[in-house]
Amino acid sequence: MSFIRLEKVSKIYPPYFRALSNIHLEIQKGDFIFLSGPTGAGKTTLLKLIYREETPTSGEIFLENKPYSQIKEKEFRKLRQKWGIIFQDGKLFEDLSVYENIKLTLVLAGKKVSKMKHLIYDFLERFNLIQKFNKKVKELSGGEQQKVGIIRAIIKEPEFLIADEPTGNLDPESIYEIIDLLKELHQKETTIILATHDPTILSLKIGKLIILEKGELIRDDTFSSQS
Ligand SMILES: Nc1ncnc2c1ncn2[C@@H]1O[C@H](COP(=O)(O)OP(=O)(O)OP(=O)(O)O)[C@@H](O)[C@H]1O
Ligand SMILES: [Mg+2]
Repeated sequence: MSFIRLEKVSKIYPPYFRALSNIHLEIQKGDFIFLSGPTGAGKTTLLKLIYREETPTSGEIFLENKPYSQIKEKEFRKLRQKWGIIFQDGKLFEDLSVYENIKLTLVLAGKKVSKMKHLIYDFLERFNLIQKFNKKVKELSGGEQQKVGIIRAIIKEPEFLIADEPTGNLDPESIYEIIDLLKELHQKETTIILATHDPTILSLKIGKLIILEKGELIRDDTFSSQS
């Protein structure tokens, strides 16, 4: 049984822009998937359908064989607490501090924050953000904000990480740091789907590659590895 399965999924944004056409995709538990393709190809749309910020115009998505359309919003939100999502546009609370942003995610995930303080410090140290600990997010640079978004999604050790272009604003050194972190997470059996055009990341060949072009899946290495 696959973890997530998309069957004949199409997405048309009103009034008639076809962002995704007839997508079939299976994500297995423990997969590390790189989602690539040019700007506007539909990568973010595909991820939004998976974390159910958007719904398909046709087709169905399944979570462990259960159709999304039969999972109630409340139930889905609960399941999603175990997922980590790195949004392309950050979605941080701009007026809260770095620490408060991270803390809030942990609280929502039902974690005991008092026991995790040292872990938050470790992550901030690792990402060179310790001096920004009490700074409001809106006072950070684009790259710094991106790092906070990454820490926020990763720190709760999600069962499933959805990362939408997490390294777009980062320098090469930070990108390597992120890659190491993703590898560590993957070794802890987190399932990962990562949208990126970053050539450094794509050249690593650690994941299965899928490529979208104009809303169509033109390459799917998950397919060839299915038995
Ligand atoms: N809410 C929306 N309403 C209408 N059109 C949309 C909407 N969101 C995305 N689109 C269109 O759908 C297409 C796919 O967008 P999407 O954001 O999925 O691309 P992407 O592959 O993530 O691109 P990028 O690499 O730039 O992030 C684009 O042409 C975009 O303009
Ligand atoms: Mg995108």
